[in-house]
Amino acid sequence: MDFTGKTALVTGSSRGIGESIAIRLSLLGIHVVITGRDAAKLDALKHKMQSSGAEPHVIIADMSNPATPEQLIRETIQRFGRLDILVNNAGYAVSKSLSTTEPEEWDRMMAINARGPFFLCKEAIPYLQKSDCATIVNISSVVGRLGYEKQAAYAASKHALMGFSKVLAREVQPLGIRVHTIAPGGVATDMVKTMRSDIDTSSLIQPEEIADIVEFLLTYRGNAMIDNIDVRRSNGTPFA
Ligand SMILES: NC(=O)c1ccc[n+]([C@@H]2O[C@H](COP(=O)([O-])OP(=O)(O)OC[C@H]3O[C@@H](n4cnc5c(N)ncnc54)[C@H](OP(=O)(O)O)[C@@H]3O)[C@@H](O)[C@H]2O)c1
Repeated sequence: MDFTGKTALVTGSSRGIGESIAIRLSLLGIHVVITGRDAAKLDALKHKMQSSGAEPHVIIADMSNPATPEQLIRETIQRFGRLDILVNNAGYAVSKSLSTTEPEEWDRMMAINARGPFFLCKEAIPYLQKSDCATIVNISSVVGRLGYEKQAAYAASKHALMGFSKVLAREVQPLGIRVHTIAPGGVATDMVKTMRSDIDTSSLIQPEEIADIVEFLLTYRGNAMIDNIDVRRSNGTPFA
């Protein structure tokens, strides 16, 4: 498939998995909107992508703000006139037992990991349905189906993301929009360093490997519908 001129919005692209996905999509010839709160990191990524000929558009926005989904889609359409691919990747996690989690922490994880993607999908559908490669990729987690100690609110938010993604996939299939979730175990990013400081990140899944899977999902256009891809690391330790 020729992706030249297509447009993708990748949330949480200032670093980690989102940065790798944004770079990969731009190498496929896709116009990419990169977004997050960290203006300096997004500017650095913009320059990196420009050095390989891309012209990404930066939007500074906080996914915990209920107004952000509408803003991101509006500005994407203003800049590129279309939207073909939405990657809901921005994520936030704190490692705390259920008994020590505060209401504000619960609300923040639900807002960034579940409510934001839900309403971004809603805002994006009218534009995606005009595309011949309309794709939504929601980055979930192994804790979107399992539970680990000290990750109750994070797991609840990722279960919520998985839940609405299953419904969305069926609702928008008649519109020609594919919806996929990717549920990784430990990926070598800032997040895992915060959540699991005991883990040697060199043995974890690398962010580029998640970008490989996104590229596969975009380029695979067969009759099979792929709902969810679970991704575990290959070296067999208990941590997924
Ligand atoms: N790393 C893992 O082991 C792992 C495993 C399974 C699933 N995941 C999921 O993968 C996704 C990416 O995580 P990562 O590992 O790449 O983490 P990361 O390195 O911590 O990056 C998180 C990204 O989300 C953005 N973000 C966080 N809070 C935000 C907010 N309030 N508004 C807008 N953007 C916000 C950050 O951008 P700013 O700081 O610029 O706002 C950053 O770009 C997340 O959904 C995460 O839950 C990660």
